[in-house]
Amino acid sequence: MMYKSLVGLVTKRGLASGVEHTARMKSFKIYRWNPDTPSVKPVLQNYQVDLNDCGPMVLDALIKIKNEQDGTLTFRRSCREGICGSCAMNIGGSNTLACLCKIDQDNTKDLKIYPLPHMYVVKDLVPDLTNFYKQYKSIQPYLQRKSFPEDGKEVLQSIEDRKKLDGLYECILCACCSTSCPSYWWNQEEYLGPAVLMQAYRWLIDSRDQASHIRKEMLENSMSLYRCHTIMNCTKTCPKGLNPGKAIAEIKKSLAFE
Ligand code: SF4
Ligand code: SF4
Ligand code: FES
Repeated sequence: MMYKSLVGLVTKRGLASGVEHTARMKSFKIYRWNPDTPSVKPVLQNYQVDLNDCGPMVLDALIKIKNEQDGTLTFRRSCREGICGSCAMNIGGSNTLACLCKIDQDNTKDLKIYPLPHMYVVKDLVPDLTNFYKQYKSIQPYLQRKSFPEDGKEVLQSIEDRKKLDGLYECILCACCSTSCPSYWWNQEEYLGPAVLMQAYRWLIDSRDQASHIRKEMLENSMSLYRCHTIMNCTKTCPKGLNPGKAIAEIKKSLAFE
């Protein structure tokens, strides 16, 4: 019975019936800045999108705008499923991934979209992540060992030790957390920020790694780590539900009690 009535509903409204849907226009106000005309100030450009003819996510709307209204609109995206981290931007006041962020279906409210805050902008919604990646490289994000198993095979890890990496290795380096952190905004050159510090912690506690002494030494200064004041914006905003604020607290603890 239930199945039948649902089918009836779809046919009445669906494309096969030839009935046209009414448009539900929503306003997207998107930050625009073009490096080719640097003296022209950034503007919020208004685009109207019919929600009845658009996928459910903010990335769907951006792609639709680019395809159908304005090919010059520039943003990064790749996987469209929260894996590559490239579509990070500030949507409706929060840093998140456009591909995981549902469009608020209330079309009386407009939606403002900006690039990640406090970053240099390459164009429109594309932030310059050069410094962010340089900082990531600085923590030497790879396994380091002085000795290797005599049989020449892999370095084993217990199930318990492997578990310690859960909640850390899933980070996709989208930079949502670092660019929501006030300490990072004001000390970006020296403070590593939550994303990079969480990865520093991930390598610090990997039971197979033998460089923890050097890793800790690199963080023992007033800027790299200790600019974190536990405000926790980072954890609140992480679109993957991770907890960089806690990882930073764990690093501080391990430095204090070594
Ligand atoms: S911790 Fe979360 S917000 Fe920060 S870079 Fe990783 S995935 Fe992105
Ligand atoms: S907890 Fe630390 S890293 Fe996270 S937002 Fe606050 S100051 Fe920044
Ligand atoms: S497109 Fe890859 S995370 Fe959004």
